[in-house]
Amino acid sequence: MKLFEDKFGRKFPYLRLSVTDVCNFRCEYCLPNGYQKSSSCFLSTSEIINLLNAFSELGTEKVRLTGGEPTVRKDLTIISKAISTNTNIKTIALTSNGYNLYQKAEEFFDSGINALNVSVDSLNPEKFKKITGQDKLEHILKGIEQARKAGFKKVKINTVLLKDINDNELPEILNWIKNEDLSIRFIELMRTGDNVEYFKKHHLSSEIIKSELESLGFIPSLRKQDAGPAQEFEHAEYKGKIGIIAPYSKDFCKTCNRLRVTSKGDLRLCLFGGEGYSLRPLLQNENQIEELKNKILELLHFKHETHYLQQGYTGLTQNLASLGG
Ligand code: 5AD
Ligand code: SF4
Repeated sequence: MKLFEDKFGRKFPYLRLSVTDVCNFRCEYCLPNGYQKSSSCFLSTSEIINLLNAFSELGTEKVRLTGGEPTVRKDLTIISKAISTNTNIKTIALTSNGYNLYQKAEEFFDSGINALNVSVDSLNPEKFKKITGQDKLEHILKGIEQARKAGFKKVKINTVLLKDINDNELPEILNWIKNEDLSIRFIELMRTGDNVEYFKKHHLSSEIIKSELESLGFIPSLRKQDAGPAQEFEHAEYKGKIGIIAPYSKDFCKTCNRLRVTSKGDLRLCLFGGEGYSLRPLLQNENQIEELKNKILELLHFKHETHYLQQGYTGLTQNLASLGG
C-alpha cells in the first residue's frame, strides 16, 4: 500500500464527512440568518460508500458524519448502516446539534454510529436560545441522557467559547461532569468569511480556561492516534473530562490527522484551506477505486503545513455549516 502521508509526515486515520449543508439552528457565529437554500444534491449513499472504501484502503479508520446538521438528512441511518456493513471503517462518529437526539438516539446507535458529539454552547436556557435561535436546551440535555441509555458510552459536548456570553460557565460545567462521564470541549471561536464582526467581539483565547483548570488540579490526558484536535484534562475527583480546542495556538496543525469532504464531494485538505477538489466524478462506480485513491494521494501533496489563521486568512470558508467544523 502506498504511504498515506503528507509532505510533513502527517497521517490521516480520520475523515470528516459532511452529509448535508442544511441546518435547523441559526447559531450567531455560524448561520445567524439560518440556512439559505441552495442546490441540495448531496452525496448519495453509494457515492459515500465508494468514497469511504477508498479512504479506508488508504488507512482511514474513523469517519465523522457532520453537517450542517447531519440528522436532518432523512436517510442518515441508511448511510450509517451501509458504512458499517460495506466498509472497514471502525468508528462512525456523529456531530450533531442534538435536536433529534431525544427521539432518535436509539435508532442512531442501532445503525452503527458508535461515537457522538453534541453542541451545547450554554447551560443557561436563555443564553442557549440567544446563541442558537432555538429554545431547546432542556430538550437537548434530555437527548444526551437518552443517548447514554441507548448505548453511546462516551458522549462529547462541544462548547464554542464566547467572550461575555458563556466564558463564566466553567463552575456549572464542572458540576455537570463531577459524576457524569462526559467530555466537554471548549472550542475557540474561529473567524470565517461571514462572522468577522462577531469574531472581533467574542473571540477569547482558551488559555484562561486552561489556567483555571490547572489551578483546580486538572492534568493533561494522553492523546490517542486517531484522537480529534482537543487537548483533554482530567481530575481524579471528576468522572468527566474537559477538553480544549485551540486552533490559533502554535503547533495546532502539527498533529492534524484529518481530512474533510464536503456534502457535495469536494476534498478539503484543511478547514481553512483555500482549495476544494471535486472527487465526485470518481465516486460513480466501484471500479474507480484505484483512480480515486491515486487522486486523493495526489491531492494530499497540496496540504499546507498550517492554516495561516493568525494572519486573518480564512480561505474559502464563509461559515462552518458547509463543512461541519
Ligand atoms: N468557530 C468555532 N466553532 C464553530 N462551530 C461552528 N462554527 C464555528 C466557529 N466559527 C462548531 C459548532 C459545532 C462544531 C461542529 O463546530 O458549534 O460544535
Ligand atoms: Fe447549525 Fe452547527 Fe452552524 Fe449551529 S454551528 S448553525 S448547529 S451548522
